Amino acid sequence: VGTLGEADLKGKKVFVRADLNVPLDDGQKITDDTRIRASVPTIKFLLEKGAKVVLASHLGRPKGVTPKYSLKPLVPRLSELLGVDVVMANDCIGEEVEKLAAALPEGGVLLLENVRFYKEEEKNDPEFAKKLASVADLYVNDAFGTAHRAHASTEGVTKFLKPAVAGFLMQKELDYLVGAVANPKKPFAAIVGGSKVSTKIGVIESLLAKVDILILGGGMTYTFYKAQGYAVGKSLVEEDKLELATSLIEKAKAKGVSLLLPTDIVVADKFAPDAESKIVPATAIPDDWMGLDVGPDSTKTFNEALDTTQTIIWNGPMGVFEFEKFATGTDAIAKKLAELTTSKGVTTIIGGGDSVAAVEKAGLADKMSHISTGGGASLELLEGKPLPGVLALDEA
Ligand code: 3PG
Repeated sequence: VGTLGEADLKGKKVFVRADLNVPLDDGQKITDDTRIRASVPTIKFLLEKGAKVVLASHLGRPKGVTPKYSLKPLVPRLSELLGVDVVMANDCIGEEVEKLAAALPEGGVLLLENVRFYKEEEKNDPEFAKKLASVADLYVNDAFGTAHRAHASTEGVTKFLKPAVAGFLMQKELDYLVGAVANPKKPFAAIVGGSKVSTKIGVIESLLAKVDILILGGGMTYTFYKAQGYAVGKSLVEEDKLELATSLIEKAKAKGVSLLLPTDIVVADKFAPDAESKIVPATAIPDDWMGLDVGPDSTKTFNEALDTTQTIIWNGPMGVFEFEKFATGTDAIAKKLAELTTSKGVTTIIGGGDSVAAVEKAGLADKMSHISTGGGASLELLEGKPLPGVLALDEA
């Protein structure tokens, strides 16, 4: 895709699609501003080049105009990070937007209201895309987190606004998630966790063709164990995925991938933060107990395997890390990756979603090579699927 550095920007109105879909609490306070901070370098660059930025994003999944999904609460933080007074529009298209965009000074930022207040956004309606495009001279897509959606502001708009190029965040995400994964320094390990096999099948299958080591953890492992005939107690199992689990184990063998499943499990008597717990062999979970984390032997085995690698990609926690008592296995992976990145220069990529939350909770976010801002988008990319928001950008 084309990149920002190539465009002539002075005095130009640039439509920037960012992913400012940040969590807000009941009092409309931002509880995690990572995505806003990640969007800043591109916007700052444009402002420094004398461009006028028209900034667009979605927030949440509103059905029509819904005040609680307004982007207004983001204005103070954005203004602070950018060092300019961001002007907020009450809409994302229409007369007011046209006037405010026309009045923008060089180095000014106009934030449009939530593009998903119009159903035409998700429908990728061409008329709506044309209206979005009408206020700007060129298009920059930095919304990696939304690049798997073919929506008007991520895809349709590129038909009406040229050049259409990638922002720095988009570029960095693609460099790591496509570049490092396609061309990894070997040995290459993937750690895949999370509660369900069903949501990770595509990722596991795609990574099996690339990795030397595949570590599986989290709730999905009990489906693998049940498939092999082990007792799993009350652990989470996807009964309709047993055959699939067996076939993934066979595929790993056929490809010569070293597949590591946990050897011991922290089991609980109920799904609760204060549950009774004990450590048992992974092959013998007692009847009334459920697995909620990997045990210390598993961590030791995983760490020894990770010590041999040069590139690691991690997607999905090892256990119910939201409960302190069952966060140990997940924390251990976060610590190991941080250690390998800082002391041995191993490339570590955290592929979105819950594992990002786990790394942040452990305070290790700045220690990894790359932390993706896209949950669904990074998953689809790792599955080898093309992202419509990226495909729509101009070839360099
Ligand atoms: C995300 O949070 O994953 C992105 O902002 C995309 O949001 P969506 O899943 O509602 O399209």
